[in-house]
Amino acid sequence: MKAAFNVREQSEVFIGPVGDILPGVLPEGRVVVVSDATIDRLYHPLLAPYDSVLIGTGESIKTLQTVETLYRRFLELGVDRKTFILGVGGGIVTDVAGFAASTYMRGVRFGFVSTTLLGQVDASVGGKNGVNVDGYKNMAGTFTQPQFVICDPAMLRTLPDREFRAGLAEAVKAAVIADGDLFARLEGASFEALRTDTDLLSDVVSAAIRVKADIVEHDEKESGERRKLNLGHTLAHAIEKCSNRMIHGEAVAVGTALIASAAVRLGVLKEEDRQRIVSVLTRLGFDLTPPVELKRLLKEVGKDKKSEDGLLRIVLPVGIGDCEVRPMTREAFAALFA
Ligand code: GLY
Repeated sequence: MKAAFNVREQSEVFIGPVGDILPGVLPEGRVVVVSDATIDRLYHPLLAPYDSVLIGTGESIKTLQTVETLYRRFLELGVDRKTFILGVGGGIVTDVAGFAASTYMRGVRFGFVSTTLLGQVDASVGGKNGVNVDGYKNMAGTFTQPQFVICDPAMLRTLPDREFRAGLAEAVKAAVIADGDLFARLEGASFEALRTDTDLLSDVVSAAIRVKADIVEHDEKESGERRKLNLGHTLAHAIEKCSNRMIHGEAVAVGTALIASAAVRLGVLKEEDRQRIVSVLTRLGFDLTPPVELKRLLKEVGKDKKSEDGLLRIVLPVGIGDCEVRPMTREAFAALFA
């Protein structure tokens, strides 16, 4: 099967049945799978031919300790520079597996089967991988492209509604950033239709990946354009740091709604466009109430020291399918919500 996208001529992204695609893309030689217990149970026949290393689930396992455990298991299994690491799972598995593979023995080849909507539309594509440090998101990691990413929409059928919905937040984000047509299609689709209509879902996955692939093509290392993919994430990361009530996509939905309000106050976004963003998220079933007081969130913003020259890079929607990145002090950012 032909790849749907080729990111930086290094990473082929396939959308289709994993059983048909995987045999054609795995290199000759040894393959070791990194996955979790849920995926191992659901896809046992697919993964049974390979040695597997299972990691736990949830954001709390995205740590250097988990990576160290992986290195040890790789050593025990005799993983060497010629071994291919196959990460099979959602964004947490692919972030951790990609980081372990790209640093073990100074880097071994790896690819992904992405099994969640959030992973397919965002996390597994684009070569970012890494772990959290002291609860601060993605503080250690590398930019290394997986050789391939397989996104099989049929694998999303087993996802709980909550996980599926969380992935939709990143699809809405991609649409707000750069694809007004995708946004309109999401406005016209119900949650139930997205869950059950494989063609519709494949179209959404493909359009969201296109947004990401186009951006990463020009700015792999996030020195400019790629920052746009962080729409809603400044506040989302603060939400995730302050509360464990929301999973990443849910926090992104809240962060996107909040930044849209700020963009209206700044005069760069029309109120009617803000309303469209809020209503598509609400209709898809997101609770857009911040789980902790805004004041507390704003105190947390920028503490991860990802700001450069003391400035945050805030992504502001300026229309549906258009956004801009604005450098701002933490104080100026907080003032937007005063
Ligand atoms: N998830 C944002 C990025 O990959 O740049």
